[in-house]
Amino acid sequence: MRARLDQLVTSALQQGSAVPAFTCYDFTTALAVVAAAEDGGRGAILLVPPSTAATAKGLRLIAALRGLADSAAVPVAVQLDHSSDLAVIADAVAAGADSVLVDGSSMEYEDNIALVRAARAMLDRSGSAETVIEAELGGLAGDEDRAFGPGAASRAPSAGTAGLTDSAQVEDFVARTGAQLLAVAVGNVHGRYQGEPELRWDVLQDIAVRTRIPLVLHGASGIPAAELVKAAAMNVGKVNFNTELRTGVLETLEARTAVHRRDGENLQGLLAEWDNSAGTFAATALATLSR
Ligand code: 13P
Repeated sequence: MRARLDQLVTSALQQGSAVPAFTCYDFTTALAVVAAAEDGGRGAILLVPPSTAATAKGLRLIAALRGLADSAAVPVAVQLDHSSDLAVIADAVAAGADSVLVDGSSMEYEDNIALVRAARAMLDRSGSAETVIEAELGGLAGDEDRAFGPGAASRAPSAGTAGLTDSAQVEDFVARTGAQLLAVAVGNVHGRYQGEPELRWDVLQDIAVRTRIPLVLHGASGIPAAELVKAAAMNVGKVNFNTELRTGVLETLEARTAVHRRDGENLQGLLAEWDNSAGTFAATALATLSR
């Protein structure tokens, strides 16, 4: 069944757990995630990257994910991830996304607020008042779609410093944007960590006492399970995974393609391996966050 993102996350937090969110560039991964959530009897979130949602095919993927969420036996939300483009947000919501991360985190503080407010006003005007908005305060280093490479390297993700959320801004930001969830930068990065991740628990704690809305931890790949559990106890109700999920799928495809080629060009067999890789990752994340 489709679920409102804020309700899904809030009810998980009330039970002392968090909900994992998984980037889905494709339907095979989404099927595996939802099956894992159903097997575990837990809710999950399907994330669509903005680069995908900006295409006509990506909008059809969103529509398909919404159908998948509707038919799931557990609560599932479909979210447009990291977008600062109002047109992409409007299209993604029209296609079926029930929540969006309106991401003005790379902008000046007032511009970030103005962007979130503009998105809210646009959605309300277009009859999508029930669409849930996550906003982001503090800049995350790294690249959302590539673990390394020119884009990621130039943004030099390093553990623990760049763009931490300023906790003194949290109350004002939440009040003025009306955001229903808040993504924070507390030493987390997108993609691979250089060295060990060093989350700033002091900053997270300071944020957690300043707002009652659920917090979101992006860049969960590479963060040890025990730390994700600890974050969930500090009002982090949503935890986003991408790099580890797709790394696992790519490794599986690389290792198994030749076998399935030899087996009569068996694409179905290879897709079953993809399903297994994504499903195993999702099941582990679901179990970790429900501890
Ligand atoms: P990772 O790629 O670091 O897991 O981050 C995913 C993410 O935050 C998606 O929004």
